[in-house]
Order: sequence, then structure tokens, then C-alpha cells
Amino acid sequence: MSTAPSSKSQLAIPLHVSYIKALGENKDDLAYHLTSHLRLNAVYWGLTALCIMGHKDALDRQETIDFVMSCWDDEAGAFGAHPDHDAHMLSTLSAIQILTTHDALDRIDIPRVVEFILSLHQPSGVFAGDSFGEIDTRFTYCAVSALSLLGQLHVLDGEPMERTINYIVRCRNFDGGFGSCIGAESHAGQVFVCVAALAILDRLDEVDVETLGWWLCERQLPNGGLNGRPEKLEDVCYSFWVLSALAILDKIPWIDADKLTEFILSAQDAEGGGIADRPGDMVDVFHTLFGVAGLSLLGYPGLVDLDPVYCMPAEVIEAKGLRKPWKALERRHA
Ligand code: FPP
Ligand code: ZN
Repeated sequence: MSTAPSSKSQLAIPLHVSYIKALGENKDDLAYHLTSHLRLNAVYWGLTALCIMGHKDALDRQETIDFVMSCWDDEAGAFGAHPDHDAHMLSTLSAIQILTTHDALDRIDIPRVVEFILSLHQPSGVFAGDSFGEIDTRFTYCAVSALSLLGQLHVLDGEPMERTINYIVRCRNFDGGFGSCIGAESHAGQVFVCVAALAILDRLDEVDVETLGWWLCERQLPNGGLNGRPEKLEDVCYSFWVLSALAILDKIPWIDADKLTEFILSAQDAEGGGIADRPGDMVDVFHTLFGVAGLSLLGYPGLVDLDPVYCMPAEVIEAKGLRKPWKALERRHA
């Protein structure tokens, strides 16, 4: 691949749109088959990136909805990542996000999905990813976000909600960050899931804003990129994991936006489209989404606003009456 010039480059929207459109078309590629366990997630990443770039219609709406429905696991009552795969919390959230974005939630048997999610709630308050029982605060975020998008958050009212919040709070570390489980080191991806889940549950009072804001800003390296933990390399996807948490805490001005913008743009493939984890690496749809998501949160011109909590177009979240007054978005339009 060749990369864009590292400075003064612009977001190559038409190239990124063609790159995402082409992803679903090359079904003979080995890479297509090797990534089948991520397929529904990848559709969410691609669709959301297109929405941010103002090209929601580049993927056919009906084909997308039909694919989502083909991933329904009728035995479990939720969605797998690919037709005939077992249901999982991650793919179930992706399905709900895609159908919400396309205003097609009426295709879902909501009581069955709610039952699936509640069946994965553990006595400790954390959620498992599937019936095999792996636990991680990621799955707690997925459960809370999915229930909220389905208008069913009330099923956690009372003791189950307190149990969920209590587990997240027990994952908070001395540096203000959060880990994947109790006692695990702070990691920016886990900071996003824990802070966003607390935002949905209306418990941001549990966040040590000053200490966590400082830890998140420390993620910016001299080249402008963000890492996920101390001593790690910069990576474009942390533009979202770190910035979304800063946006929720209204601390985006604490990082150097120009340098981060330049870093994200330098990871574009200026010939084939798509964004990589860092300049010179192979592009993928995951880093393409989180690159444009970061640019949207930074107010890059011409992009659609992203809701930092749900990682979906802000207008979709607003239309559902779910959007809290995220000051970062308000300031951008001031
Ligand atoms: C880094 O992972 C990212 C995380 C741990 C957070 C992942 C969050 C979800 C899957 C929830 C759904 C997300 C959205 C946006 C709706 P990594 O494994 O790449 O970390 P590494 O850089 O340490 O390898
Ligand atoms: Zn990454």
C-alpha cells in the first residue's frame, strides 16, 4: 500500500467508501472466510463508517437487513456473527446497532433477545459473552447498550442494576482507568466500555474525572497517535477508545487534536482506500471505522456527528430519545 503524505492530507472519503463497498463483494478471498467469526461486527463497522462519512446508502439497506436476519440463532434467541454460528453478545449488539441505524428493529423478537441477555448476567454483576461463560466488562457494555437501544433497560431496574454498576466500579483502578475484570490493569478499550456503560446507566458520578482524564491524555505520543496502555505503540483504533471516553467526560480539549488528526490521516491508504492501525500497515474495516470515528469526535469538517456512548450516528440516538446532553457535541456546534 502507499500512504498519504503525513501532513496537510485530507480524509479520502470517496476512496474509503469504495473500499468498504468492495469488502462484501470479494467472497472468493481467503481473508473473507478467515474472518467469518467477525462478519456481523464487520458489517456494523462498515455501515457506521459510511454513516459518519455521509454515505449510509452505499450498502444496500435490504441486503444488509437480510444478512443480519440470516445470523439469527433461533435456538439461543439472539444473533451469531455469521449464519449458522452460535449466538454471542458481541454479534447481538452489532445486529441491534445495524437494525437501529436502518430503523428495522421491528424485525427482532425483542423478548427473546432480552431473555438471552439476562441469561448471561452473572451473580457478580458482570455479563458473559455467551453460554461458554467468558466474562469481561466488554460484554457488560454490550448488554447495557443492547437493552438500551431496544428500550428495555428497565429489565435491570433495582438489584440487577446495582449489581452491574457495582462490578464496573470494582474494575476501577488507582489511575482512574478500568480493566477487563476486577484487578486487571487499565486499558483504554475497557475504559470506553466501562465509562459508556456508566453513562447509559446514568452513573458517571462513579468516574474520577480528573484522574481518568489525565490518564487518557497520557495516551498521546509525540507522533500524535494514541496508545491503549503505557509503553504500548500508538494505534488508530485508540483514537476512538480514548476520545469517546474523553468526549463523555467533556475533556476532548485536553489532547492535541491537530496532531491526532494528522496521525489518523497518515494511516490512510491513499490508493486503495481504508485506514490502518498505523502508517504503512495493511488497512482493515475496524481501523477505518475507528479512524473516521475519531475524526468525527474531533470535529473534522464534513463528517456526521457520532454519539460517543453508542458509537452510532448521533442523529439516530437522538431520534430514539436516548442522547444525553454530551457537551462535546454541543460545543462543536457552538
Ligand atoms: C481494544 O481491544 C478494545 C477493547 C478492549 C474494547 C472493545 C469493545 C467492544 C468489543 C464493545 C463494542 C464496541 C463498540 C464500539 C460498539 P484489542 O483487543 O484490540 O486490544 P489491544 O490493542 O490491547 O490488542
Ligand atoms: Zn487497533
